[in-house]
Order: sequence, then C-alpha cells, then structure tokens
Amino acid sequence: PLPPAYRAPLPLPSVLKPVSTAGGVNRYQVTQSETKVEILPGVRTPMWTYGGTFPGPTIEARRGRPITITHRNELPVPTVVHLHGGRNTPNSDGYPTDLVLPDGWPDPTGGTSATHRMPGMPGMNGMDSMADPSMTGMAGMRDPRAVVTRLTRDYTFPTEQRPTMLWYHDHRMDFTAPAIWRGLAGLHFVRDHAEETLGLPAGPRELPLMIADRAFDGSGNLQYPARDPTLRDRPGVRESFLAGVLGDVILVNGAPWPLHEVDAARYRLRILNASNARHYELEAVTDDGRRLDLVQIGADQGLLAAPVTHRTLPIAPAERYDLIVDFAQVPVGGLVRLRNRLGSGRTRDVMAFRVVRKAADGSHIPPVLARDLPSLRRSDAVRVREFAFRAGHMHGRHGWLVGGRPFDPARTDVTVRLGDIEVWRLIADVHHPVHLHLVGFQVLSRGGRQPLAHDAGLKDTISLRPGESAEIITRFDGYRGRYLFHCHNAEHEDMGMMANLEIS
Ligand code: C2O
Ligand code: CU
Repeated sequence: PLPPAYRAPLPLPSVLKPVSTAGGVNRYQVTQSETKVEILPGVRTPMWTYGGTFPGPTIEARRGRPITITHRNELPVPTVVHLHGGRNTPNSDGYPTDLVLPDGWPDPTGGTSATHRMPGMPGMNGMDSMADPSMTGMAGMRDPRAVVTRLTRDYTFPTEQRPTMLWYHDHRMDFTAPAIWRGLAGLHFVRDHAEETLGLPAGPRELPLMIADRAFDGSGNLQYPARDPTLRDRPGVRESFLAGVLGDVILVNGAPWPLHEVDAARYRLRILNASNARHYELEAVTDDGRRLDLVQIGADQGLLAAPVTHRTLPIAPAERYDLIVDFAQVPVGGLVRLRNRLGSGRTRDVMAFRVVRKAADGSHIPPVLARDLPSLRRSDAVRVREFAFRAGHMHGRHGWLVGGRPFDPARTDVTVRLGDIEVWRLIADVHHPVHLHLVGFQVLSRGGRQPLAHDAGLKDTISLRPGESAEIITRFDGYRGRYLFHCHNAEHEDMGMMANLEIS
C-alpha cells in the first residue's frame, strides 16, 4: 500500500560540518555505507548512503574557498563520486573508472599502494563478468588511465564557480543508475556575498527540494530491476526497463509526498530532479484550482540575467531550477500542491505546502539578477560538432549510443582545445537529458527555432525532446584533461550513452 500524501513533514538534509578549516581549506569526511533509512512511515529501508542519510548531507561551499572531501567506501562494491555541475580538475571529477575499492575487493593489479595507475582493468568487476559476452561494460575493462584507490579518496574542489546548487552522486561505470537509486545522492551549494545581498528569500524561506521517484516492495525494500542485484558483476537492467526505471512513489528530500508548513510569503525553491529516468512538468496549484506563478531566477549553473515567469515548468533528470513562489497569494490555511502534469495517478502529486500564518516579507526579486552571464553568439564559435543520441546495439544487447558508439573509456571521442568556443548540435531519438561535465553552456536553438523559456541562463544539462535537434554553445575553459558528456537518464548512461571529452 502506498503511503498517504501530504502527511510526512518535509525533511531538510543536514548540513555537513567541516572537520577542519585550517589553511583556508574546508575539509570534510563522508562515509559511504549500507544503512537502514526511514523513508516510508514506520518502515526501515536498507539503502546505500552518504553519511547514513538519504539524501546525503548537504555541503555548503563558498566561492573562492577550496574544499576537500574525503570519501570512505564501506559499501560492498566499488564507488566513485562525481560533483554534478562542478568545475573541477579531472582527478577530482569522479571519472567512472576512477574507483574507490572497498576493503577486500580484489585488487586487479595486485599492488599494495593506496593509489596506483591501473595497467588495465581485467577482473575489476570479477572474472565472471569477463566471461559474459553480453556484458555492456566489456569496453570498460580496459582503461589504462584509471586511477584506482583503496577505501578512501580525497576529492578537491577549487570552488571558483558561480553560486548555484550542485549535487553529488555515484558515477561508477555501468552501475550508476542502481547506485543512485539505492541512495547515493546529496546536495552541494556554492554561495557568495553578491548573491546574498540581492534580497532573495533566505534562511527558512529557502528550501532545497530533491525530487526522486522510487519503487518499494511489500516489506519496504527498494525495488530495482537489476540483472545482478548484488551490483558486483553484471551491469544492466532487465529487458523491459531499457527505456529507464520509474518508481510509483515520489520522494522529496527522501520523504513520500511530503507537506511543508509555510508563511504567507515568498519562498526560494531550489529544485533538483534526482530521478533516474522520470521527467516532471511542475505546477503549483491552490485549493481553488489557481496556478501560482513559478518565477525562475536561476538555472543549473546559477542566476539568470533576469527573472522568467512560468505557469508550468518541465524538469528532466539532473536539471535544477531556482524558483520563487509567493505564498502570500494564498489565504492562511490554504494548501498549495506541487503537481506533476506528466504523471498519472499518484505520480501526479509531488508535495504540498500549507500556508499557516501571515508574516512580514522583506524579500524581493530584483529585475536584474546577474551581470556576469556570458552571451556567446554563433559567430563566436570556432567549430560546430554534431552528436546523435540514439538507441542501438552494443555487445549483442540493446544499448544507447552517442554518435553510433557505446561508451569506451579507452577511446577519446572528442578533443577540444582549452579556451575554444564551440557549437554542439545534439540530436535525439527519444527523450535524452544531455549533460556535459566541467562547463556550463547556453542553449542556442531548439528544432531550428528560438530556445524555450526554461532554457534561459547557464545550463549543464539540456533536456532533448523526442526527435529534436538542439544547439548549445560554450567556451571549454577550466582545466585540461579527460571529462565526459552523457545522457543523464541513468539507465541510458549505464547502457553506453556516454562519451569522452578531452580538453587539451
Ligand atoms: Cu550527474 Cu556525469 O553526471
Ligand atoms: Cu538518454
């Protein structure tokens, strides 16, 4: 039986405290472990967690102040952490073969050092997998550039990027989707003084909302159609889930259809779609059927130049939106439901807000939000590339391909010169939310037309619609090295829909 809607209070993930702030660097420690978490009321669900909770602890970072997070892997399988939307060096970007091995996991090199380069990866996922020709990750067994560690790894983030809400999640090759599903996801904010002086709603009137669907069995265990439920050897999902895995329970910050009590005032909602494959089209509806404006002030990579008002707002996996909703338009006692127009039955509901009191509101929405946004034009680009995101075959199974090929960590798909501005034309057969590591980009066009209203600002994930071709433009600056771009439907990603981006 599904839990009742609008009973569970909205959890707010705890903010992680640094273990040290010496030398101008904030240092954190996170242990990844199997933990039982109360998601459904009165039920303890076994999950894989960062720090014992789902979502994991929130990191609050300040621009200009580097941070180092030591992750310790006490899970039964290798893991790797990626900070989604982070502008970080390649060795801290969580490349899918830069694994942190758990204690006791066979060391494919026989080496004893804490960190070593792998000459190759045969046996990484167990010898069984090598004997299975249908394994989607065969190519991943050979990656001469992988940097593997045992038990712990330090991830260092310079934090020189625009303020925004990022998220961290597992990125292990072939097994990202089930690992995120089991709970390996958390929020990471970058803030700065300029943003804090804008007068936007803050403190208890700023709410992070991580939306994710999940499915549970009768005893409250997470259900996921993995071919190998141990997630040790054989990657992939059962045949009927190739399009992506959907759940019938909508969680916000780890609670099913929660309720949050609010003042009759403006709130800043920092929304992330952390679902593996589910798309939402959000609307905020009052008791009497009115839709409240969703005033967008920011995109994946931070504040817009100016606010954009939406009645409804589509959000694809991994996208974030920074919204202002004014609950002063609702009488005290009224309910505002955040609904999903793409859902049916219970997946139409997301969460609700109960307006409980009148209150003073000193916040406002400035007509100019940010002046530091790039505004690149097509004529600035030194080249145009084209990538098709389409279904295909890999190693005899169904797969998802970029440019006709499944992911292979040993192959460089694109080499871009550091500092070059390029236009990328992205073509889709079905829905594919395409994400680039390292850079934020602007959407130039969709289907040969102007971008949509919600494409405004700087993005790191673009939701390609079925049959659509869209163009993005960016300057590839930051760092040299190996990065990724991929579909963020997590099942597509695990079934080959990733490619290597070398910045040289
Ligand atoms: Cu959110 Cu390559 O990932
Ligand atoms: Cu896809």
